[in-house]
Amino acid sequence: MTRTAFHYRNGVLHAEDVPLDRLAEKAGTPCWVYSSATLEARYRAFAGAFAGLDALVCYSLKANSNQAVIATLGRLGAGVDVVSAGEMQRALAAGIPASKIVFAGIGKTEDEMVQALDAGILQFNVESEPELRLLSRVATKRRKTAPVSLRVNPDVDARTHAKIATGKKENKFGIDIAQAPAVAKLATTLPGIALQGLAVHIGSQVTDVDPYHAAFARIGDLARELNSGGHRLTRLDFGGGLGVVYDRASNSGAPPALDSYAGAVRGALARLPNGGRGTEIVLAPGRWLVAEAGILLTRVVYMKSGTAKRFAIVDAAMNDLIRPTLYEAHHPMRPVTEPASPGTEIVDVVGPVCETGDFLALDRPLPPLRDGDLLAIEVAGAYGAVMSSSYNARPLAPELLVRGDTWAVVRPRQTVESLIGLDRLPPWIKPARPKGRNRAPTKKVSRQRNNKHRRRKG
Ligand code: LLP
Repeated sequence: MTRTAFHYRNGVLHAEDVPLDRLAEKAGTPCWVYSSATLEARYRAFAGAFAGLDALVCYSLKANSNQAVIATLGRLGAGVDVVSAGEMQRALAAGIPASKIVFAGIGKTEDEMVQALDAGILQFNVESEPELRLLSRVATKRRKTAPVSLRVNPDVDARTHAKIATGKKENKFGIDIAQAPAVAKLATTLPGIALQGLAVHIGSQVTDVDPYHAAFARIGDLARELNSGGHRLTRLDFGGGLGVVYDRASNSGAPPALDSYAGAVRGALARLPNGGRGTEIVLAPGRWLVAEAGILLTRVVYMKSGTAKRFAIVDAAMNDLIRPTLYEAHHPMRPVTEPASPGTEIVDVVGPVCETGDFLALDRPLPPLRDGDLLAIEVAGAYGAVMSSSYNARPLAPELLVRGDTWAVVRPRQTVESLIGLDRLPPWIKPARPKGRNRAPTKKVSRQRNNKHRRRKG
């Protein structure tokens, strides 16, 4: 990647060749803006690091499940890692073949298993003995064989934020490595199950390569042991989790380089007979592929000064991007108009939501801002839009995809009308009759409610 997709040109921050002030004018704020070039460059770089191996990159689409994002990566050959039937349907709808879909997650329901078996997915990552038994029953009933990898919990500390660490034995994920041989044995006796491999995922935003070496070595050793005991495991799924740079200024917590991460994977394969030749590998990166491809574009509503703090009150909030509130996450920010001088002032960047926890940055040195200025909240392509909600009756912000000098709305802004339209009045409450032209609910919504009411009564 030679240049970043988000850069100043003629004093204005651009996404590829599109000025962000133009996008804000056309699409309104807040809005998400994604760069096709960055998505493609990240995918190519990631896949390239595993050249020479029989590797399938299964994009973990929980990071960003917009159809346009999935399809952009899918066209380059990506498979996907999903954690719900909903995500599987999103992947299929975006054109990902079932043969490239891995179904992970600790709580698959019977209905989800049926859907995935009928679709013919590549692999179920099974995380417990009861899940394995249910999958066996469901597959047998449907006269199918479920391809299975056992997700093993290697008891390795990923040294990341506690809320996104998954590889310690006290975390809910995976089969305790001490119990894995017994569950593998069980898998071979259960009908409808074809045990094909092992899977591991130790956490997200991992910025240290050592935990990867430790976890992958444990998985490699376990695969070798199981195979020498008569199993025939031919696939290893190394999960995702590779971190990205959020704090550009301090460069603290810089993630390992891609090659160093790939080296940990190659190291695990080297522990297998034949140096792992004949072993398929699956990688399930989410954040690394999409985080840097996206920004959240917001506008300053008011600059407000108290005696203790100066606040930039913007039109994006915790309902749009919850990462700062939930994980104390740092997202870099730049004004869309390039600052004329290097001076900064310390501000809290906060949203309009009625919670003290509604902030996007605290005590952040930023170039002086004024009411109406546009601000780009960066490295927001992963776990941004997908985690947003309509709290405070704030409609979901639109998503735009840029490609060179063109762009498209890939999810329109939700309307308040459609939000209200999701609710139903119970039969014992009469719908309000709109009196004046400015009275809510709108005519269309009240018509829907009336129809519903009539249907119930009739
Ligand atoms: N595979 C499994 C089994 C996972 O649970 C995850 C993420 C991934 C792959 C992809 O991890 P990645 O490469 O994106 O780190 N909302 C949080 C992150 C939650 C990650 C959950 N699992 C955040 O905003 O930081």
